[in-house]
Parts: sequence; structure tokens; C-alpha cells
Amino acid sequence: LHIIHIAAEMAPVAKVGGLGDVVTGLGKALQKRGHLVEIILPKYDCMQYDRIQDLRALDTIVESYFDGKLFENKVWVGTVEGLPVYFIEPHHPGKFFWRGQFYGEHDDFKRFSFFSRAALQLLLQADKKPDIIHCHDWQTAFVAPLYWDLYAPKGLNSARVCFTCHNFEYQGTAPASELASCGLDVYQLNRPDRMQDNSALDRVNPVKGAIVFSNVVTTVSPTYAQEVRTAEGGRGLHSTLNFHSKKFFGILNGIDADAWNPASDSFLEVQYSANDLQGKAENKSAIRRRLGLSSTDDRQPLVGCITRLVPQKGMHLIRHAIYRTLELGGQFVLLGSSPVAHIQREFEGIAHQFQNHNHIRLILKYDESLSHSIYAASDMFIIPSIFEPCGLTQMIAMRYGSIPIARKTGGLNDSVFDVDDDTIPLQFRNGYTFVTPDEKGVNSALERAFDHYHNNNESWQQLVRKDMNMDFSWESSASQYEELYAKSVARARATAS
Ligand code: ADP
Ligand code: GLC
Repeated sequence: LHIIHIAAEMAPVAKVGGLGDVVTGLGKALQKRGHLVEIILPKYDCMQYDRIQDLRALDTIVESYFDGKLFENKVWVGTVEGLPVYFIEPHHPGKFFWRGQFYGEHDDFKRFSFFSRAALQLLLQADKKPDIIHCHDWQTAFVAPLYWDLYAPKGLNSARVCFTCHNFEYQGTAPASELASCGLDVYQLNRPDRMQDNSALDRVNPVKGAIVFSNVVTTVSPTYAQEVRTAEGGRGLHSTLNFHSKKFFGILNGIDADAWNPASDSFLEVQYSANDLQGKAENKSAIRRRLGLSSTDDRQPLVGCITRLVPQKGMHLIRHAIYRTLELGGQFVLLGSSPVAHIQREFEGIAHQFQNHNHIRLILKYDESLSHSIYAASDMFIIPSIFEPCGLTQMIAMRYGSIPIARKTGGLNDSVFDVDDDTIPLQFRNGYTFVTPDEKGVNSALERAFDHYHNNNESWQQLVRKDMNMDFSWESSASQYEELYAKSVARARATAS
């Protein structure tokens, strides 16, 4: 199949969180399975340009419509992690992708509806005939209605559209009138069965539009797919998802087994594998030296946490886990950053409080290299999320032999299984879980993990090796996407003939 992903993130060049990992990981896995995969991204000023190979501008200028005018887009092509990527650079006075950050701008709706339209225009002008156009999250959700309203009739009609929602918290709603800028018909679309927000009649909801207009809709784990179909978990979209349930699926993400491999990870002090855990211990000593944590005791557990600091991630529970770890005699390293200024400041306050502490370190920035070192150095890894569509950090942690301590929600519920839960076959039990999103819940899992660590080293080491050997690669998830794509294409062909 010819598959085009249109997205706002792609690791490692333009990554904010897991979306970036997924676009690259899924893209690579599908390419490996023999499909032609291409990616379309905005050309952000703040990308990691040193991770793009052979970047060059194409001669063709793509002319796309916005606010009643045509704008020129310069298109660049390069290779990222072996995948061909088109980068769209709009010549628009709004300087949409010259902001020094990927998201969080007052005009994100404009920036990304512009990008969605320009991406489809690129496909049309370049005469591409993809079988699948796969868009992700609200930023590129506009692609689905734009495709059926404007681009399928123009000749791009060979494609099926797949939409993946990575997080229903972010729906990108805006006043209905804003939809007109990218050429969508407000009068036609601001209707309850189309893009009208389910709780505000004068607002449109791009995620709802993509659910209605895509052929296939997915989210990133089976448990989250069930949660969002309930009134409590659906963020206002449960009725829409239930109405379209036949085309809605939950597929657990994988992780990129090449990018996340302790045996070949060049960011690490020492590479290691499940058969040689001495290397893991050396990474623990190295990070203690690097961060100024004073312990030479190998048997003092180190708890890691790497996260965006947003309410979803259970920030108060992370804060609690720091203090409880200290009481239990462990060490804690947090690497995180927040898009919300007051949250960032709050954690900076805690970081300051602990700046000379021997056992706690908070590093409040985005740092890819340090993240690898923390996965490798930590013995345990905490993810106390309030909700979690999939979560990748628990899977990465396991690959690096750091035992997850996770709240049972969303994708965490589909990937972390409690060591002490004898209703689950032994071979799947890989971490510590808790249910209630409160301090008691955190304590119940953290304390059991500490007991295990201290009281049975042999069995702890076995658990570490077992987790490192678990398969969270993209293989199985990519084959599920492949099957959905193929069925959708086959249905379209059957209808056409
Ligand atoms: P989300 O997408 O909700 O942020 P995920 O668990 O799906 O959560 O993905 C998070 C990804 O971002 C992981 O690859 C994780 O290592 C990375 N990450 C999160 N915060 C940081 C940070 N401060 N520095 C480096 N990497 C980070
Ligand atoms: C979102 C979710 C996270 C998921 C990621 C990739 O950011 O918050 O749970 O793992 O997307 O799908």
C-alpha cells in the first residue's frame, strides 16, 4: 500500500511527546512490511535539522488556499530515520512555523488548518495517489473533511482516510466561523452530525469532524478505546464515538525497538543487555555522578520519571512519590517539562528545594539524551497517570530493565500487569499497579516494589530480565493497522466496481 502520514510531530526531528514516537515507529514498521510510506510535516524553525538527511527544496511550489487567497508553499524533502518526509514551508505573513515552538500558539487552529490544506494540495499537485491518508490528532484532523469536501472531487479520490486520536483531551475546538479560512463550508459542517461541538453550538470540533469523515478511526489502546466511549471518559465525544463505533478501534502503540535498545544505545555510558546487567548498574553509578546524587550503594533503589508535566500525568501523585521514595530510603530522578507556565514554576520550586539534596533531582527541561540515561539507570519507573491513552514510557522503561509502577488506566492497563496479581498468567506479570488515583494508591504499589527490591534480589533480577525481553515492538500493532487499511481499501474497491 501507499501510505501517507500527515502529522504535526515526528521523532526525533519534531517531537513533543509520544505522538512523535508513534509517527516514526509506525511509519518504519509499515515500511519494513513492504509498504511505501511517506510523511508530511510542517517545516518548523525549531526542528532538529541535524537529524534530517539530504534535505533539499523541490522546484514545485504548492499553492494553497487560505482566507480567500492563494499562498505559496515551498516544499522540502528529506529523510528521517529512513523515511521520506515532505516539509511544508508556507509563505504566509503569519509566519506559522517560525515561532520557536511546535504548539501552544494563540493561532494554532489557523496554523494547522492551513497546514492540513497545504498537505492535501501537495498530494494533488505532486500527482500522488495514496491508498491511505493517515492523519493524527486535532492538528491534522482537518484533513478528513477537507479530503471529502474538496480533494476527493478534485481527483485525489483513490485514498481512504484513517484518523488516529492520541488523546481526546485535545480537540482543538474553535468558533465555527474560523473553519471558513481553510475553505471548509461552515454552514454545511457546523451541524450536530458533522463538526459541531457536542456542547457548544457555535463551535466546531476538528476531532469530531475527523471521526465523522474518516473511513477508519483509531485510538492508541484497547482500554482507552472503551473509556472514551463512556460519558466519564469521552470528553464530550462518547456519543459520536458510539454512533461511529463500527469504524472505531483501539490499537496499542509499540515502541521503536531500534531507537530504544540498551544494547546499542549510543546515549548510554555503557550498553547492556538482559544477559549482562552489570552494564545497567554502571549506568546507575554514572547518572549519580552526573547529577550529583551521593550514593555508592548499588542496593539503594533509584526511581525514575520522565514526563510532560500536565494534569493528565498525575502531577500531585508524582510529587507525592518523590517524598514517599525519600521516606522509603530510595532516590528519585524526574525529567519533565510543562507547557503550562505556572506548573513549570511550581516544579522549579521543588527542584530548587532539592537542588543540593543527596537523593532527589528534578531536571525541568526536554532532554532526549538524558532521558535515555534515566531509563537505563533507574530500577523503577513511576507513571501515576490520571488517564493515559497509551503511554510509551512504561514500555521504554521495561526495555531498559526499569520496573514500571503504574496506575491502571488506558494503555497502562494493557501493558503493565501486577507481579502480585495471580489472576494474570505469570509470564505477563511485569510491574506494580494501583487503581485509585490517590496517595494511598501510589504507596500501595511503591512500597510493594521496594519490598521486593530489598528482600529478594534474585527474583528482582529475574523480573528485570523478563521485562527487558518483553516484546513491545511495533510488529503486532503495525500488522493490525495494515489489516484495517487493507479492509478499508478493499471495501472501497468493492463499492466502486
Ligand atoms: P505523552 O505523549 O502523553 O507525553 P508518552 O508516554 O506517549 O506520553 O510519550 C512520551 C515520550 O516523550 C517518551 O518518548 C518520553 O521519553 C518522552 N519525554 C517526555 N518528557 C520528556 C523530557 N522532558 N525529555 C525527554 N523526553 C521526554
Ligand atoms: C498521547 C498520549 C499518550 C500516547 C501518545 C502516543 O500523547 O497522551 O498516552 O502514548 O499520545 O500515542
